[in-house]
Amino acid sequence: MPPEARPPAPSAADFDQAFSTSASPRIRRVWELAEPGLPAEVEPFSFVSPGLLRHVLQATDLAPGQTLADLGCGRGGPGLWLAREAGALLVGVDFSPVAVEQAADRATLFGLADRARFAVGDFTRTGLPTATADAAVSVDAFHFAADPAAAAAEARRILRPGRRLVLTNWQPNVPGDSRLPPRARIDWPSLLRGAGFTGVEMEARPEWHDTYTRVYQAALSLGDPGDDTLLADLQDEARQRLPLAGLQERIVVIATAPGQARVPTRGTDGHVPHTAGVRDADLVITVMPPASAAAGEVLRAYFAEVASRYYGRPATEEEIAAAMREEPSDDLSPPGGLLLVAVQDGAVLGCAGLRLLPGGIGEVTRVYVMPAARRRGLGSRLLDELETHARDHRVTRLRLDTRRDLVEARQLYARHGYRETTPFSRGPYSDHWFQKDLLGGKPGPFGT
Ligand SMILES: C[S@@+](CC[C@H](N)C(=O)[O-])C[C@H]1O[C@@H](n2cnc3c(N)ncnc32)[C@H](O)[C@@H]1O
Repeated sequence: MPPEARPPAPSAADFDQAFSTSASPRIRRVWELAEPGLPAEVEPFSFVSPGLLRHVLQATDLAPGQTLADLGCGRGGPGLWLAREAGALLVGVDFSPVAVEQAADRATLFGLADRARFAVGDFTRTGLPTATADAAVSVDAFHFAADPAAAAAEARRILRPGRRLVLTNWQPNVPGDSRLPPRARIDWPSLLRGAGFTGVEMEARPEWHDTYTRVYQAALSLGDPGDDTLLADLQDEARQRLPLAGLQERIVVIATAPGQARVPTRGTDGHVPHTAGVRDADLVITVMPPASAAAGEVLRAYFAEVASRYYGRPATEEEIAAAMREEPSDDLSPPGGLLLVAVQDGAVLGCAGLRLLPGGIGEVTRVYVMPAARRRGLGSRLLDELETHARDHRVTRLRLDTRRDLVEARQLYARHGYRETTPFSRGPYSDHWFQKDLLGGKPGPFGT
């Protein structure tokens, strides 16, 4: 079906709404009835069983310490389960900020708070750098893409050569079957080959299909949903989809990114040493909730350094805590802003924040590079990435304030085209003001 004839794909706001009502005990009951062996913490928004997850795990071919990208991660359960089993690092991407926040919180349930990161991003613009993932999965999500071929191309871009994308989805018995909803008509192997993947393999198993229909039947068996809107929605979906279930197969597709696999740089025990430098291929700069563990670590380091320079001596714990209280960072999250965090091989290396103000103004703040990662261009990379996000949010002018004693920061801004301007803020920590005009702003995913 040509894209123009397809009904619009669901929006992030549609999913935000579903995820904000997701703590439903009756949905938990659905899972107890349909897949009693599924670990409770997985709480999927999909149709997974322990057997299906094990199959996906094996297909990813991940070694401990490698990086798994979960595209359309939702509340994170399936990706976190896979990362825990593989001993991998996890980067989850989803366009629903509500899902991303819940996924970040839920990482602790899997003991992965310091190995899992979650970021807001679209399938076609994940924000992950090229050739950085050792495997990518997308569990029952890719069919929601407005442009599934572009989503596949983005997955190919972020994968290292020779590494795999593993999708769970549904394959129509007859590709293009008009009795199915448009997003259920996709012929996955040909779409993935068209996106340049090689070695595309598809497997359909009746037991995976049985899980799918059992979840719907379990939802219907609970009867009147009362005020449980999530159960009511699942029952509606069941009534629409169950009659069509025989027209499709439940599938796992494995597709390999072209190119030669890199010789692994990790030890045989899978241990990845923390590196001081920025090796591009492993660097991930991604939007993270300010409350996440990684953001907390780098923001604390930022305030420790700013306060120490202000006092001209190492700041005490109380002074750092007071500075963080006085200048909270929780507004650096959608829709009013965002925080980028740079991570490499599990080490947090730096951050940069953006506040979205009226009139196309973006305020740059919290630009920081950890001492061990300096003099390798990371500050510039963070500013470049921040500008891309700013343009997406139709920001036309970036501005920032800084201080005389933050010499390296002032040099960085000057190199990046920021020019000194008249004061636009007051306060003890500001005595230099910079601005930079951006051209070509376009609408962004948060609709600002
Ligand atoms: C059925 S849920 C699956 C979630 C998760 N994989 C799981 O198994 O629990 C589909 C997910 O895809 C996400 N999604 C849909 N369209 C997207 C897009 N264009 N970009 C990124 N995520 C998207 C939704 O927000 C939702 O979290």
